[in-house]
Amino acid sequence: MPTNQENPRTGPATTFQVRPVCRTLARAALAALHAPSVLNTQPWRWHIVDETAMLYADQRRRLHAVDTAGRLLMLSCGTALHHACVTLAADGVDFEVRPFPADDDPDLLAEVRYRGEARPSAEAQRLRRAITLRRSDRRPFAGTAVPGEALDELRNAAERTGAHLHLTWSRDLTGIALAAGRAAVVQLADPAYRAELAAWLRPPGEGHHDGVPVDTLAPSGARPVPIRDFHATGMIPGASTDADLADREARYGIVVTDGDGPADWLTAGVALSAVLLTATADHLATSAMSDLVENEAARIMLRRTLGNVGYPQIGIRIGVPAGGPPPPKAPRRPSAEVIEVVAEPVPGDAVPPAGPP
Ligand SMILES: Cc1cc2nc3c(=O)[nH]c(=O)nc-3n(C[C@H](O)[C@H](O)[C@H](O)COP(=O)(O)O)c2cc1C
Repeated sequence: MPTNQENPRTGPATTFQVRPVCRTLARAALAALHAPSVLNTQPWRWHIVDETAMLYADQRRRLHAVDTAGRLLMLSCGTALHHACVTLAADGVDFEVRPFPADDDPDLLAEVRYRGEARPSAEAQRLRRAITLRRSDRRPFAGTAVPGEALDELRNAAERTGAHLHLTWSRDLTGIALAAGRAAVVQLADPAYRAELAAWLRPPGEGHHDGVPVDTLAPSGARPVPIRDFHATGMIPGASTDADLADREARYGIVVTDGDGPADWLTAGVALSAVLLTATADHLATSAMSDLVENEAARIMLRRTLGNVGYPQIGIRIGVPAGGPPPPKAPRRPSAEVIEVVAEPVPGDAVPPAGPP
């Protein structure tokens, strides 16, 4: 849409417009608003100019107690990057992703450059439909096993991104449960952790744009692997007293990378998104479990359980949904806060300043 703006050099009436390519990239950035992020912090922003969308980490939204290493911020940005790429591929766009393109700017995580048109990808269209359907589902799963073919699909989805999905067997469960328990003991004893968790919980009925709404939580209850205990903040009444073991048929996937630096964390986020969207498209329910890797001792225990091969980056709880309506949608930031699109002067449209030179 062309606009008239004052320009000090060319006079009062230069016309600016957003190029169609920038609009295509902006649509992808808009879809990425739905990406999951740690405590729904949504710690990224997009700058779209010429034929490139630049993804930046927003360090002001980093969690300093939960995410001491900065790993989860990077994973969260990776999920946004993958959501945007899925949207472009579904829209029939040929594009190139350059991770960390600027040595002097570690917050510029990736450039997505438009290269032209391509045949729309049917698989990307399937994942794009999953973008708005996906939710973190923390409720106990149904007592039905996850089909083996669906698990193979999730493993392949992670492999295609350059990461791996280690699907745990029942023999691994004790190790994973011990890691989750260890993380909980250490973290809940830390007042800074409890304060940060409480600060990102959102009571119902208020116009929030981020954070975790309390009505998306479920009692931690008795599960083979405990999920993060949000009740320990004291903000949510009614922790479960149900003694029945839930999640008997849950499967646990651990996203594993070959290295353990910021580029690997970004890749792990891309893989996390690929697994979550593939699972949603296959009518499976999921929730992320980063408590397993937030505490170093817990992460070492988890790595040992996986045979010390690769670096565990995040856990994913996978199951058949129990039925009933889906969990409520967590809120998102307004697009104007997250996406900046640079308009350009229309060539040859500058109106000369009025009056004699
Ligand atoms: C890196 C990362 C870590 C996360 N860790 C957890 C977690 O430990 N426990 C949990 O219940 N949800 C976790 N989540 C899910 C977020 O809380 C969730 O994505 C966010 O609240 C938005 O909700 P939605 O997924 O329903 O869109 C994590 C998500 C990401 C991307």
